[in-house]
Amino acid sequence: MTGVGIKMAMASIAMMWYTCQADSNLHPLILVPGSGGNQLEARLTRDYKPSSFFCNRWNPISKDKNGWFRLWFDPSVLLAPFTKCFCERMMLYYDPDLDDYRNAPGVETRVPHFGGTQALLYLDPHLKHITAYMSSLVESLGEIGYVDGKTLFGAPYDFRYGLAAAGHPSQVGSKFLQDLKSLIEEASTSNGDKPVILLSHSLGGLFVLQLLNRNSLPWRQKYIKHFIALSAPWGGTVQEMLTFASGNSLGVPLVDPLLVRAEQRSSDSNLWLMPSPKLFGHKPLTVTPNVTYSAYDIPQFLEDIGFHEGVQPYKSRILPLMEHLLAPEVPITCIIGSGVTTPESLFYGECGFDKQPEIVYGDGDGTVNMVSLLAVESEWGENRNQTLTVIRIPGVSHTSILEDDTALREIVGELQCINSDIMRTVGSRTS
Ligand SMILES: *[C@@H]1O[C@H](CO)[C@@H](O)[C@H](O)[C@H]1NC(C)=O
Ligand SMILES: *[C@@H]1O[C@H](CO)[C@@H](O)[C@H](O)[C@H]1NC(C)=O
Repeated sequence: MTGVGIKMAMASIAMMWYTCQADSNLHPLILVPGSGGNQLEARLTRDYKPSSFFCNRWNPISKDKNGWFRLWFDPSVLLAPFTKCFCERMMLYYDPDLDDYRNAPGVETRVPHFGGTQALLYLDPHLKHITAYMSSLVESLGEIGYVDGKTLFGAPYDFRYGLAAAGHPSQVGSKFLQDLKSLIEEASTSNGDKPVILLSHSLGGLFVLQLLNRNSLPWRQKYIKHFIALSAPWGGTVQEMLTFASGNSLGVPLVDPLLVRAEQRSSDSNLWLMPSPKLFGHKPLTVTPNVTYSAYDIPQFLEDIGFHEGVQPYKSRILPLMEHLLAPEVPITCIIGSGVTTPESLFYGECGFDKQPEIVYGDGDGTVNMVSLLAVESEWGENRNQTLTVIRIPGVSHTSILEDDTALREIVGELQCINSDIMRTVGSRTS
């Protein structure tokens, strides 16, 4: 972006601020975080069987009197012997008899502070610098008058669990949708029956879309003012194939990706983020000397990388869930980063999937491919019942959207316009 471009963008934002000064009568706002975007707590019962001396000995120091400790995030996960302990406690297991996912034996988990923003601000409140998540965003919301617990709410959840297609149980994910629905109704009631604004990041957007479509149109019209989705991976990402095949150290240099791979594979919601066949089509996404995999070949891909356990749940629970992006017919604004290099195809050599691949990059937000970020625009562009605005912010990445100044100004500007009932551009624009 040129200097002139930046100035013009600033000027237009300043004008919008001027045109959209919301009064003090704010619509209640609920934040729904992305994967890994809130704290999780665990405690170990007698059934817990540590795999090694380290995990046995390692009793988290900051346990409360009932044995609960912060499982996510805890910095000791960065040290190799403890990474293993962390992974075995975070692991999920698919139970074919239940047709559902469950925790590792002997590990109980819970999500702290549902309803407030506390669990979303920092992943570890003792390490604010390196684990800040929605703290900058919440600070900006405070500046326009949002107050935690009165007009501002948070919906943290156990992000390891996803949802399943109709006819398949998904106990943890469905319970979250139920809790979120109650929170929406309570937030509306306690604010003079004003409908609620939902603001999600990343995976949170997929949950919100499911929540909307699993409730009736009259319910949506009564309770939902607007849905703002930040960085939503509507059709999954190529990066998820990399995570499943070779592990993902999440950019932390000390973490060996192969050490966390089994845990990442076990996560139900990660399977939900595989690239969607409908969007990615027959394009080769992963290439080995013997085989080329497109999004249609994910079951074979899971088999070949050695994750046989994932094939059945992927085919029965996840694939039908990804097939249709149903328009919920409440106003939606997608705010996305663009122009950041994003994995688009993976090339594996003779050494197989344990060795990190060569990566060819394309456009996206660094994590999510452009085709996925824009999926609802291509799906719903012609649907007259669906109001949709897409705002692109060049150079902003998947997570920096929560702290970048330009991005925060866009988000706050959009909220002010929604609160003052002024429609900004409908359609697509670049900040
Ligand atoms: C690829 O084919 C070669 C030769 O047929 C075989 O030895 C090798 O195991 C195959 N690799 C994979 C990953 O299937
Ligand atoms: C829009 O809504 C009308 C009235 O409910 C319905 O008949 C029509 O099928 C909808 N259009 C789309 C594209 O969903």
